[in-house]
Amino acid sequence: MIHEISLHSPSTLLEGAYINSFNKLSLKSDQLNWIYLGNDAEINTPINNFNSYVQVLLKRETEPAPGFVCDTIWWAIYKNQMVGRIAFRHELNDFLKKIGGHIGYIVHPEWRNKGIATWMLKEVLKTNKVKNVKKILLTCDVCNIASEKTIIRNGGVFEKIIDLGPSRPAKKHFWISTELK
Ligand SMILES: CC(C)(COP(=O)(O)OP(=O)(O)OC[C@H]1O[C@@H](n2cnc3c(N)ncnc32)[C@H](O)[C@@H]1OP(=O)(O)O)[C@@H](O)C(=O)NCCC(=O)NCCS
Repeated sequence: MIHEISLHSPSTLLEGAYINSFNKLSLKSDQLNWIYLGNDAEINTPINNFNSYVQVLLKRETEPAPGFVCDTIWWAIYKNQMVGRIAFRHELNDFLKKIGGHIGYIVHPEWRNKGIATWMLKEVLKTNKVKNVKKILLTCDVCNIASEKTIIRNGGVFEKIIDLGPSRPAKKHFWISTELK
């Protein structure tokens, strides 16, 4: 199935695929990760006004919200379903240097463990936008084996573990060189 998946910029044409998949998410953490508007966002935003939601995501490419950096978002579409979301942050602020890294992703729970995250990251690392940055920081919780393997499969080189205190898992930091992608 991987060769039938494609990455797309957010678009109102993908409303059906987006909402179908979104409605099947049961965990609030997955819903927040799917809409990707920050942790204080209203979960219903895409459902209430999909057009303005898409405009907000697209605008971030050049005009980030205060405290954020510009980013580029892709939705992974398989037939009429959205199976994942991946985003590239164009630069690192203090939060991203420590916690978020350049690239973040989520695969829909119904589509996990089929190679989709590994494929999405591989594709995004080949884009000119990403290749303009020579070294890409990827981070994952120390307990997130699937994300760690996704990073390592794409050439991630382990750098260090950042301790975030007793209430949060530590973060592993990896770097990927885009020069050979
Ligand atoms: C992390 C995540 C994106 C992985 O997506 P995925 O499409 O299932 O990943 P893949 O199928 O490409 O698998 C990558 C590797 O992890 C392994 N893997 C997948 N799920 C796993 C699991 N639950 N436990 C252990 N290993 C797992 C796969 O076997 C594969 O390893 P391999 O290359 O040795 O075969 C997905 O679990 C997810 O969306 N999690 C919630 C959001 C999240 O954690 N995002 C990342 C933040 S850093």
